[in-house]
Amino acid sequence: MSTVRDDMPTVLIAGGSGLIGSHLTRHFKDRGFRVYKLTRKPRKHGHIFWKPQAQEMSTSKLHKIDVLINLAGENIGSSRWTAKRKADILASRVQSTQLLASMIPQMPNLKYYIGASGINCYENIPGKVFTEDEPYGSDYLALVVKEWEAAHQLVLKQVKGSIFRISMVLSRHGGSLHLMKQPVYFGLGAAVSTGQQYSPWIHIDDLCKLMLCAFDQKLEGTFNALGNNDTNLDMTKCLAKWLKRPLFLPNVPAFILKILLGERAILVLTDLRASNLKIKEAGFTFKYTSLDSAFKSFFK
Ligand SMILES: NC(=O)c1ccc[n+]([C@@H]2O[C@H](COP(=O)([O-])OP(=O)(O)OC[C@H]3O[C@@H](n4cnc5c(N)ncnc54)[C@H](OP(=O)(O)O)[C@@H]3O)[C@@H](O)[C@H]2O)c1
Repeated sequence: MSTVRDDMPTVLIAGGSGLIGSHLTRHFKDRGFRVYKLTRKPRKHGHIFWKPQAQEMSTSKLHKIDVLINLAGENIGSSRWTAKRKADILASRVQSTQLLASMIPQMPNLKYYIGASGINCYENIPGKVFTEDEPYGSDYLALVVKEWEAAHQLVLKQVKGSIFRISMVLSRHGGSLHLMKQPVYFGLGAAVSTGQQYSPWIHIDDLCKLMLCAFDQKLEGTFNALGNNDTNLDMTKCLAKWLKRPLFLPNVPAFILKILLGERAILVLTDLRASNLKIKEAGFTFKYTSLDSAFKSFFK
């Protein structure tokens, strides 16, 4: 059981009820931080109401906030990318961040800001390892990230902070690993497309530590957040090994995935590699840099 310490900072997490926010809340609380969450559906003590679409937000606790972490946004992988869904994915990130930016003057104690962003922001050039100074790509996800990060800059003009371009988050409690695990668990696992496409990934514990480290060291700038890059085939094989399941089916062709998932199939079909050198040079050490060590922590 964690105990809030009066000498420790108070954190406000926008979108704190989601996958990353829930882990992060525990991570900060375990260290004595007081944590509030901004949510559209307040249910518990510590939840603060907001409705970014209407630019509405309860302001009663804002004067207490030392650290603001912004994770809010419609889930990218949960449903088909219709034109409306794509507009919602973008607007939910930009409007909520703009609302936070407009509220900064009401947070006199605010010392640090962390903005979430996505690693899928680079041009699609297989084989290249992307660093943070590469330009944005030109596809839909790159556009979302570009506009989202422009909104983060409205906050960063007012307070120190950093932006993390988060890669696929591995957690035993949901997200991509949960989706990958199901077919493998039932013995129906298979790589998709050629299986040779890379995806950057990060263990949830490392991501939480990274955000705490950013606050502790008051890091400034934009950072790729990944423990490593691995191919779809290696991920599937490693998962099958840890779940002790056979892997014998042929790869799922890309066109089948496109039929099943529509445009969001690019989340698994894109071949992307990114560099984590910048955050390592800033002093962060990843605990999980191999899939084996990450999956071991979940399935051992
Ligand atoms: N998980 C990953 O693998 C991954 C990878 C790269 C980037 N990211 C980014 O990191 C952030 C957090 O990821 P996550 O996995 O924790 O996401 P998540 O589980 O989908 O949670 C996102 C949170 O955002 C809030 N939200 C959703 N729609 C909203 C809207 N229209 N307006 C305001 N708030 C809204 C929700 O809070 P309420 O319903 O309580 O309001 C929800 O708890 C996301 O923005 C995501 O794009 C995640």
